[in-house]
Amino acid sequence: MANVQITSRQAYRRTDDYTPGTPKLKLVTEDIKLPLAPTSVLIKVHAVSLNYRDANISNGGNPWPVIPHGIICNDAAGEVIAVGQGVQTLAVGDRVGPIIDTENITGRESTRSWLAADEDGVLADYLVFDERKVCKLPTHLDWVEASIIPCAGVTAWTALKNTSIGQSVLIQGTGGVSMFALKLARAAGLKVILSSSSDDKLKDMKERFSSPPLLTVNYAKNPAWHEEVLKYTNGAGVDLVIEVGGTQSLVKSMKCTRRGGIISQVGYLSKQNVNELEEFLPLLIDRRVILRGINAGSKHDMDDLCAALSATLMRFDDIIDLVYSFDKADEAVEFIWQGKQVGKLVIRL
Ligand SMILES: NC(=O)c1ccc[n+]([C@@H]2O[C@H](COP(=O)([O-])OP(=O)(O)OC[C@H]3O[C@@H](n4cnc5c(N)ncnc54)[C@H](OP(=O)(O)O)[C@@H]3O)[C@@H](O)[C@H]2O)c1
Repeated sequence: MANVQITSRQAYRRTDDYTPGTPKLKLVTEDIKLPLAPTSVLIKVHAVSLNYRDANISNGGNPWPVIPHGIICNDAAGEVIAVGQGVQTLAVGDRVGPIIDTENITGRESTRSWLAADEDGVLADYLVFDERKVCKLPTHLDWVEASIIPCAGVTAWTALKNTSIGQSVLIQGTGGVSMFALKLARAAGLKVILSSSSDDKLKDMKERFSSPPLLTVNYAKNPAWHEEVLKYTNGAGVDLVIEVGGTQSLVKSMKCTRRGGIISQVGYLSKQNVNELEEFLPLLIDRRVILRGINAGSKHDMDDLCAALSATLMRFDDIIDLVYSFDKADEAVEFIWQGKQVGKLVIRL
């Protein structure tokens, strides 16, 4: 281990007080377990990106169990500042981000351990991880951009799998995963239809992604939004949908997916009501839709994504909505909880 002086860290732990208006996070100072285990690395965190999940967990809405008073967030970028004696794949100075399910290395593991749920998350100034649970990040990105890769990026990457140049994709909403997916879809030569509840957001996105012109649909104003999507695809339906609505939108998404097309079920942002799924099975069979559950991705997926980003030198400054300082973490979580962002909100350390 290199000679570093760091023995403690600052981290944001959940208060687990879900009363509206009370603080959801508490800043704590705690010891770092030293010396490092032989295969562990010490990471100085430079940026942490927030996801809807962080606000949901902080407000007690997560459907999966979480450890009490855990550290929130699962999207971080930082620099290796010390390595255990047996570390072979990383060195001091490497730019890295932890994977978000630390047991999902190849995609075939039967167990899981999600950051910020089954174990502590990453909203802290220093982190310790086993080298197998950490990926090297592309060197052309700044810390803020790189921090959106492990969760939003990997989710968008796996949700777009099995598409090829010229195919069409419906991307729902202007949140972080969707914006990342939009960038990847454009780079992959896909025809993109973007939906949003806001004409202003759609106008803004059309300006940002003007060539080729972005096709857009307002799903809030037009309850029959799936028909607009069908029109954009000459009645056939899109090859792939990035689904974030859940029960409220899934049947409509199936109606505007081509026969044999794929729906990547990423989220469930609408109020979930199973009564809205009455047509689900007949449609699934009739349209031969492949409904694919997405759960971020494995370490291998993140390595593949980072290779693609390095090869294309893709930047993400155009989908970073806001950057907060570390001391404003509670405010940042509330901003996400209110759904005010377009794209990503990142905390810089
Ligand atoms: N499965 C996974 O691995 C994984 C990973 C990351 C996130 N997620 C999930 O994916 C979803 C999106 O995450 P995120 O971090 O991108 O969230 P986000 O940044 O908070 O974005 C949410 C956006 O989704 C849109 N939206 C809200 N309700 C909708 C609905 N009923 N139908 C269609 N679009 C809707 C809204 O866009 P407009 O304002 O433009 O309408 C909203 O701004 C969440 O449910 C999250 O839990 C899943």
